[in-house]
Amino acid sequence: MHQIDASGIRKVFDLAATMQAPINLSIGQPHYDTPPEIKQALCRAVEEGRNAYSQTQGIAPLLKQLQHHTDECYDHSNRQVFVTSGTSGALMLALCALVNPGDEVIVFDPWFVMYKHLTTLAGGKVVQISTYPDFRIDLDQVKAAITDRTRVILFNSPANPTGAVASVEEVRGLAELAAERDIALISDEIYRLFCYDDEFHNPAAWNSDTIVIDGFSKSHSMTGHRLGYVHGPDYVIQQMMKLQQFTFVCAPHPVQWAGVTAWDLDMSGRATEYRGKRDLIVSELGDQFEVHGGQGAFYLFLKAPWGTGTEFVAEAIRNNLLIIPGNVFSEQDTHFRISYAAEDEVLKRGAEVLRNVAAAGPP
Ligand SMILES: Cc1ncc(COP(=O)(O)O)c(C=O)c1O
Repeated sequence: MHQIDASGIRKVFDLAATMQAPINLSIGQPHYDTPPEIKQALCRAVEEGRNAYSQTQGIAPLLKQLQHHTDECYDHSNRQVFVTSGTSGALMLALCALVNPGDEVIVFDPWFVMYKHLTTLAGGKVVQISTYPDFRIDLDQVKAAITDRTRVILFNSPANPTGAVASVEEVRGLAELAAERDIALISDEIYRLFCYDDEFHNPAAWNSDTIVIDGFSKSHSMTGHRLGYVHGPDYVIQQMMKLQQFTFVCAPHPVQWAGVTAWDLDMSGRATEYRGKRDLIVSELGDQFEVHGGQGAFYLFLKAPWGTGTEFVAEAIRNNLLIIPGNVFSEQDTHFRISYAAEDEVLKRGAEVLRNVAAAGPP
């Protein structure tokens, strides 16, 4: 545990605790509540007494829906699905199942915070490939980073914190490279719904061994419910399920019943709404900030116009705007993350603070 440093995030929370009614563009979850149909299904499940453990792999009706969808998307005879305790749970199981002490896991910098720490927990070592300044994946850099110890490539599109959506060439290139070199490819697709410009591409289309991690947290605004799922080759899934049996046991049982209802809901209206928010924030900031990425999810990762990311964020916080310094997600401290999962009026006020802090220069 001493090798895991959570001080960056903690500092932001400490600062946030001193703020009164901040303009909050730091939150990594939708601003809308869980849809009422899902809440009702959850209440019903609790009332009906579905409160005991479920089978480790998940309840049959949800598994059936997920497996059906997976079989429709991929023609992989051994692709198996199981239900996890959030995407985070699936990530932990995958890394613990695949990584031996000393193994290397390739991640793309900036990365989602958990990747580094869960790799460390599994005894592995992250090998970071920078995607600055445009957050594109350079396949030559990936090839150069592969060693005899490379066990996993961890890929996330649409990405947190950059909002970048990988192009078909990037996804296909990465998928084929992983297959050629016999390296496990984990694809974290939790923001799949939120793709605004181009189509979403899944590496499993070119690499039948891809381990796909997904969940209901972001698309259905169920972050507190802890419901995710994973599909991949059955021999990996079996090992992950074994570990789930002895760690998480199962995903929360009544929530799985809510998931059955959630699966059939059309959430595409939310993606359209968030595309509008992305356009709004880019039009508010585009003149003063360089915008790269931002084709999906609900984040922008912007270069601080002066000082380090931390210095710029500290000044924004002094002006009552809560955002996250880039070094929480990266080896470098040059950027900051904003989440535009907020009301338009909040976005406009936040953008105004950012413009003013940028124009004023260092204090
Ligand atoms: C890229 C990414 N993966 C996984 C997660 C974890 O999601 P869950 O709530 O399903 O555990 C998050 C949450 O912020 C995320 O941004």
